[in-house]
Amino acid sequence: MSHVYIEKISAHEDQTVTLKGWIYNIRSSGKIHFLQLRDGTAIIQCVMGKNDVSEEIFESAKRLTQESSVEVTGVVRKDTRSALGYELHATGLKILHISEEYPITPKEHGTAFLMDHRHLWIRSRRQHAILRIRAEIIRAIRDYLDDNDFLLVDSPIFTPAACEGTSTLFETAYFSQKAYLTQSGQLYNEANAMAFGKVYCFGPTFRAEKSKTRRHLTEFWMVEPEVAFLELDGLMDLTESFVRYIVTRVLQNRQTELKEIERDTTQLEKITQPFPRLDYGEAVRQLHALGSDIVYGDDFGADDETMLTKQYETPILVNRYPAAIKAFYMKGDPAATDRALCVDMLAPEGYGEIIGGGQRQDDFATLLAAVHAHGLPQESMDWYLDLRRYGSVPHAGFGLGVERTVAWICGLPHVRETIPYPRMLEKLVP
Ligand code: 4AD
Ligand code: MG
Repeated sequence: MSHVYIEKISAHEDQTVTLKGWIYNIRSSGKIHFLQLRDGTAIIQCVMGKNDVSEEIFESAKRLTQESSVEVTGVVRKDTRSALGYELHATGLKILHISEEYPITPKEHGTAFLMDHRHLWIRSRRQHAILRIRAEIIRAIRDYLDDNDFLLVDSPIFTPAACEGTSTLFETAYFSQKAYLTQSGQLYNEANAMAFGKVYCFGPTFRAEKSKTRRHLTEFWMVEPEVAFLELDGLMDLTESFVRYIVTRVLQNRQTELKEIERDTTQLEKITQPFPRLDYGEAVRQLHALGSDIVYGDDFGADDETMLTKQYETPILVNRYPAAIKAFYMKGDPAATDRALCVDMLAPEGYGEIIGGGQRQDDFATLLAAVHAHGLPQESMDWYLDLRRYGSVPHAGFGLGVERTVAWICGLPHVRETIPYPRMLEKLVP
């Protein structure tokens, strides 16, 4: 009998097939067993009547517990009452393993308990839907960049210096030296853009975030495109087109999962409109009008971002933040020297920053002065300064955080459910 996946069951109507998976739930009347079977792709109801199988098989099914592993053979029948549209009329059952009492039962559990059982929690419907949406987002990211002629060029994880400031560096021994886990592939990306023109890197990045918030992980995935001869306005166009593509792909391919997690998709459909672009000064004025006590010149707190983005139905592009609160590599705005040519994309519905990026400082002397002003060791930055010694050009790029994007698209209150094994201040196991 051929093994098929539940997701592909519609191609096998009225055929006899074998499904391999785990018991999600089981319920029996005296004469019929109803097995909810999950195989990783979907869940199907298998109906086993007393007269359809041998007595031995019917009796053996009574031993099944939640998460026992089995192979079920049967005939695929259309069933308009079920969400899947099909059920299996079982004619055979092979039990592979009777599960011990499973800790995650259909009753409600607290988040701490579920987080401690994350390796099992990912088997449940809701977590399943979220992680499938995450995979779709990652696929969309790669497709957009690959189809638009960005070359994937990987950046290293062990690095000799900070990219995003020294306060969130994870230090590790590197033989007789010290190394740091990368906070961003950007500096290498810039070198790669000077070599290949349009590039991206995509991988895990690390920040020793000591605060517990709903937006911060210590290990998160970031995709970072970088483009030679691109300036701030073109960069904003790129971020907009990129994010619109990602959301559209999820709407096209992951309706079942969005429904499973009860996401209000009308909010996501609105992202086809243009994304408003607000200068930092304008954003501060709007925040004051909304009652924020932000001081002009300060960075936005999470509450400010939430307040601001609740005014809009699409993401917004807040640009030209004060140079003093931004990283050393940013190019200054020639029109306002205290400002940087940078942009953050803030997602709607209160989600806040999902993208940070900008135009890079391309002048050797100015960059060298910034390296010193930020107290960065010049030896570890010499190779980066070389990019301004040998054929410097205007260039720009950005980083999009995958987990915050998943949280927004799925409408989740916290990033901890957006990655299979979240790493946070007090979370290293499982
Ligand atoms: O704004 P950030 O710090 O920008 C950079 O790292 C640039 N070097 C990227 C570039 O221009 N190539 O981080 C970019 C994005 C944020 O907007 C956010 O989505 C995500 O990375 N991010 C985090 N996500 C989860 N947990 C954290 N601790 C995060 N820190 C940043
Ligand atoms: Mg940022």
